[in-house]
Amino acid sequence: MRNRRAALAAIAGAASLALTLSACGQDSEGGSEEGSGSTKGATIGISMPTKSSERWIADGKNVVADLESKGYKTKLVYGEDDPDQQVSQIENMITQGVKALIIAAIDNKSMNNVLQQAKDADIPVISYDRLILGTENVDYYASFDNEKVGELQATYMVEKLGLKDGSKKGPFNIELFAGSNDDNNTRYFFGGAMNVLQPYIDKKQLVVKSGQTELNQVTTLRWDGGTAQKRMDDILTSAYKSDRVDAVLSPYDGISIGILSALKSDDYGSKSKPLPIVTGQDAEVASVKSIIADEQSMTVYKDTRELAKVASSMVDAVLNDKKPETNDTKTYDNGAKVVPAYLLDPVAVDKANYQSVVVDSGYIKESDLK
Ligand code: GAL
Repeated sequence: MRNRRAALAAIAGAASLALTLSACGQDSEGGSEEGSGSTKGATIGISMPTKSSERWIADGKNVVADLESKGYKTKLVYGEDDPDQQVSQIENMITQGVKALIIAAIDNKSMNNVLQQAKDADIPVISYDRLILGTENVDYYASFDNEKVGELQATYMVEKLGLKDGSKKGPFNIELFAGSNDDNNTRYFFGGAMNVLQPYIDKKQLVVKSGQTELNQVTTLRWDGGTAQKRMDDILTSAYKSDRVDAVLSPYDGISIGILSALKSDDYGSKSKPLPIVTGQDAEVASVKSIIADEQSMTVYKDTRELAKVASSMVDAVLNDKKPETNDTKTYDNGAKVVPAYLLDPVAVDKANYQSVVVDSGYIKESDLK
């Protein structure tokens, strides 16, 4: 497993460099001419899940910019976390004659009928970030190593608690949160985290006082921060009357902010009651600010600019009868087929490295963190 990961990471690094170079125009023969054949001017439909999180707004903009730089027109829609609305938006784009679709699904199991319509109209489909399940009509998958995201979050926790190097034995109290149960990424994030945490739970060095350790007990519908806040409130009231929670596994920054609100309402963050370790994902501005303010502990940065490049290069290749570059043809079985994937590498970010990783790379402007 490790070796496969290392090999994947190396390939991902080399390929993302190649993508970057071609996007910078340094590979103009291969890059910019690809979209200039019979597909020049074709419209590509892009369906994103919600504007309620800044990452998806950036994803939409980046995919549009990359496709336009290759000579395509675009139509970008947001489903506002409503699966039915997303499906009907995609139906409309098919009727309007888009030549390919890039979809980040809200409910990964809601796409069977509409993707059959896409297939019948000969429209290739790229599953963006989240794998669409249960249909053969998904051509490629562009994402990150999702299991590694969970591993990074959990490894950070056991390192900071002193369990990893054995300097502390515990027991420490931990609570677990997962993402939306209709998002396929959720089980990969949670599975990756539990691979790291379970041995410590088995040895009772980590104790989940709520008793809620199964994925179906800890999911957070539509990744909603308010839902997570309420669940954390309930857990603090019922399981932590006299004890303190030392760490909270959170899969996503919006959820982390909700969890932190519940903790602060219960006086965590005061001198006598320090905040627990709280993880996150996406390096959203509010969470990076929270990290700088010593509240949220870490986040997992996924450079969505690179993801947008991967997805638009896949579209460009497919429409020009070329085989898109992939680096994983085994992991992502959607129930109907194994979808060939290109996975990028996620990076753990905390107060010590946020400047070099997210600011110096231009992902977040320094001024936005003031
Ligand atoms: C997931 C995605 C995460 C996060 C979450 C909530 O599918 O992989 O990075 O953005 O959705 O939006």
